[in-house]
Amino acid sequence: AKISRFRQTLLSWYDDSKRDLPWRHTSNPYYIWVSEIMLQQTQVDTVIPYYNRFVTTLPTVKDLAEASEDTLLKLWEGLGYYSRVRNMKVAANQIVAEHNGIFPDDFKDILSLKGIGPYTAGAVSSIAFNKVQPAVDGNVMRVLSRLFELDLDIGKPSNRLVFEEMIRILIDRERPGDFNQALMDLGATICTPKNYKPENSPVKEFNASFLNETWMKYPIKKSK
Ligand code: ADE
Repeated sequence: AKISRFRQTLLSWYDDSKRDLPWRHTSNPYYIWVSEIMLQQTQVDTVIPYYNRFVTTLPTVKDLAEASEDTLLKLWEGLGYYSRVRNMKVAANQIVAEHNGIFPDDFKDILSLKGIGPYTAGAVSSIAFNKVQPAVDGNVMRVLSRLFELDLDIGKPSNRLVFEEMIRILIDRERPGDFNQALMDLGATICTPKNYKPENSPVKEFNASFLNETWMKYPIKKSK
């Protein structure tokens, strides 16, 4: 009963306060994928115009598979980490060759695409296909560490699996994509690395580190 109240509280906050982002007006997995790759090393505000131009210029996976190096370079110029879009082109060719150009909905198939790791596969599965899959990045680890006073090093790669298992338990079964995105928004806007004010959190009544006044300790990051 407490978990379902947590889900409801988080999702109500998300419904009222979610950021209006262009990739939140589509469930096209190709568009969601483009947004997630761009957002990996780039701020939301910077990504928006790049995202709009990219999906307008290359509206389908097939268009990406057939795009010239020159086109891709221009679309990505200024975003940095050019290997991201080179990998996307390889993945687009995989999708054309192995899935007739249709973005796969099976989690393992998504994970086997070039440049897609567990975070991106979970984000695309949950957001585009409404699958119950975790999408754990650094922001989500910080949110969970504070909620549950987790003495787990968020810098230790093997701990990601522990966070993923926790999300599998917590995640809303009807709205997994919104649940994951609500945690991302919480991590980006309220549960921030700096200037964190736990009293402003929509889920403060569920936040153990707020209730126990230990929030300054979390998240724990040892390895550098
Ligand atoms: N950061 C990474 N993925 C995101 C998403 N879907 N919405 C907002 N911020 C994000």
